[in-house]
Amino acid sequence: MAQASSQLSALELPSVSWRRRHLLGLEELSAEEIRTVLEVASRFAQVPATAPLPELLQGKTVVNLFFEDSTRTRTSFALAVRRLGGEVIDFQASASSLSKGETILDTARTIEAMGVDAVVIRHRTPGAPHLLAQNLQASVINAGDGPHEHPTQALLDMLTILQHRGSLEGLTVALVGDIAHSRTARSNIWGLTRLGAHVILCGPATLVSRRWEALGVEVSYSLDDILPRCDVLNLLRIQFERQQSRPFPSVREYAHLYAMNRQRLEQAKPNVLIMAPGPINRGVEITADVADGSHSVILKQVTNGVAVRMAVLWLCLCVAQQDGQP
Ligand code: NCD
Repeated sequence: MAQASSQLSALELPSVSWRRRHLLGLEELSAEEIRTVLEVASRFAQVPATAPLPELLQGKTVVNLFFEDSTRTRTSFALAVRRLGGEVIDFQASASSLSKGETILDTARTIEAMGVDAVVIRHRTPGAPHLLAQNLQASVINAGDGPHEHPTQALLDMLTILQHRGSLEGLTVALVGDIAHSRTARSNIWGLTRLGAHVILCGPATLVSRRWEALGVEVSYSLDDILPRCDVLNLLRIQFERQQSRPFPSVREYAHLYAMNRQRLEQAKPNVLIMAPGPINRGVEITADVADGSHSVILKQVTNGVAVRMAVLWLCLCVAQQDGQP
């Protein structure tokens, strides 16, 4: 792999190797590649939000192609492009020719024909970003494909843990909640296990299957049992919009068994990190006092989202092309 020396000496970005034009998931990334993104993102994260950055994406156009709702991911991709001097176009799926029967591939090809360098796509169908990557010249970044993967979310989760703990090796990280429907869970499992963390999946049996153990993770149905061993608790939203039927009798019963609340916090390690990808449902997976309390790094995750997306865009749009990879 060719070495691409960065133009970011002011930022003290490292000299990096990167071959991929697309970021489709963490499953296909090696531990070394994940470390590279996190290393670059951690340098971006050190720059205050108001400080100027080199215009690394000058002349590049990125389209945000979101077919599902989003607050954090969409906004932070847009901010990441703008902070690095690129152009961003926000595509409104509901106001497009998709409503006239155009396929997603034809829509993407049409947008690409106008001279787009990257497509950031969120779609309810697993594999939609992979389909675009096979058919477009532009870089494709997966911003969530159904319940499959959400690589930049897992990367920002890992960056946040690294900032607080220095390493992921040997840490116990619990992903609590709707594992069955969570793309955040899948990407976190790939990333965390690859960097040496012990992952526990915890939730009701209707949402957490023992089959996940094949990925080298532990499965538990009792949050109270695992709590004292956890260094990090990542509380996932119940994805009602992806479920055919209710996976538990009532939200109240779910909260009774799995919500992170003040009583449970007292049973946890004194320095436990409380995380959530958001949006959070206060009173369901987390109580308001814990979400806003001193252990919570939920807003720090949001801040880190911009740094991670700057790193991914720079690597895929600038460094990979300098390396001469297809
Ligand atoms: C997640 C998503 O959309 O997959 N949120 C996010 O991107 N920050 C998780 C969720 O919707 O619960």
